[in-house]
Amino acid sequence: MAVGYRELGLVNTKELFKKAMDGGYAVPAYNFNNMEQLQAIIMGCVESNSPVILQISKGARKYANQTLLRYMVPGAVEMAREMGSQIPIALNLDHGDSYELAKSCVDYGFSNVMIDGSSLQYEENIEVTRKVVEYAHERDVTVEGELGVLAGIEEHVSHEVSHYTKPEEVEDFVSRTGVDCLAISIGTSHGAYKFKIKPGETPPPLRFDILEEIENRLPGFPIVLHGASSVLHKYVDIINQYGGKLDDTAGVPEDQIQRAVQSAVCKVNIDSDGRLVMTAMIRKYLTENPQEFDPRKYLGPAREALKEMYIAKCDLLDSAGKA
Ligand code: G3H
Ligand code: 13P
Ligand code: ZN
Repeated sequence: MAVGYRELGLVNTKELFKKAMDGGYAVPAYNFNNMEQLQAIIMGCVESNSPVILQISKGARKYANQTLLRYMVPGAVEMAREMGSQIPIALNLDHGDSYELAKSCVDYGFSNVMIDGSSLQYEENIEVTRKVVEYAHERDVTVEGELGVLAGIEEHVSHEVSHYTKPEEVEDFVSRTGVDCLAISIGTSHGAYKFKIKPGETPPPLRFDILEEIENRLPGFPIVLHGASSVLHKYVDIINQYGGKLDDTAGVPEDQIQRAVQSAVCKVNIDSDGRLVMTAMIRKYLTENPQEFDPRKYLGPAREALKEMYIAKCDLLDSAGKA
C-alpha cells in the first residue's frame, strides 16, 4: 500500500539543503542495511543534534526486505522523538538504477530518491532522470541526479576508472531534468580501496577546481559528494589485527572533506567507514570472547562504536548542532 513520507515523520531535502548551503555545512547521508546500523545512526545524530539522511541502496532493500524497511524507518523516527529530539530525518534511495525502482521507493514513503544514470549516455541519463523527477515532484519527493562516473564497485555497475563531471554539462542537465541536487565526480570513489598509493604517500587532492566551476555555473545549487569515507585506519588495523586481511588502503583525507562542506556540497555520503567499524568490533569481540554466541554481545559494542563514529562524522561535516 502506498504511503507518503510525511505520514512516516520524514522530510524531503529542500529545507535541509537550503540551511546547509546558508550555513556552510553538509548533511550526512548514512547507509544502513540492518537494525544496529539504523539505531547507531539515529542515536549518533540525536546526540549530535544533526539533521540526517538515511540511505537505502537497491541491495539493502533486497537484503533487509523492502516491507520490513518500510516499517523500520518510522520506528526509528519515533525512537528519536522518544529521546526528546526533533532532528529532521530524510529517507533516500541510494543509486537507484531504474524508473521503476525509484517509483516504488516514492510509493514506499522515501522522501528523496537518487536516480543514477551516470553510466548511461548523456541523453538517456536526462530522459530517465526527468521521468523520475516528474513522478517524484508530483508527490513533493525530492530527486538527486548524477553526472560523471565515480570509480569503484556499485552493485549494478563496476567502474575501473572515474570520469570527472564535465562542468559544461551541468546547467543543461539540471534545467532539463529538474533535479533538486546533483552528485558529481571530483576524485572520490566508492568502497574501501579509493586510491592506489604507496605506504606513506597521501592521496591526490580532490578536484576542487571542477567543483568551483560547477558552483559558478549553478550558483546556490546543492551538490552531493559520494564515496566520502575516509577509510578509518584505526578500524582497518583492528580488522587486520583480529584475523582480517584488508590490503593497504586509503580514503578521502578529512581535511578534504572539511574543505568540501564549506562549498556548495550539501550532502556527503558515507557507507564504507560504517562497514569497517562494525566488522572491526565484531572481529575483536569474537576473538577475545571465543565462548560467546549471543549476537547481542558482539553487535552491542559494534553499535556503540558505530554511534561514536557517526558523532565524529557530524562534527567533521559541521552538521552537529544544526538540526
Ligand atoms: O554507493 C554504494 C553504497 O555504498 C551502497 O552499497 O550497493 O553494496 O548496498 P551497496
Ligand atoms: P563510501 O564507499 O566512500 O562510504 O561511499 C558511500 C556512497 O557514496 C554511498 O552512495
Ligand atoms: Zn554513492
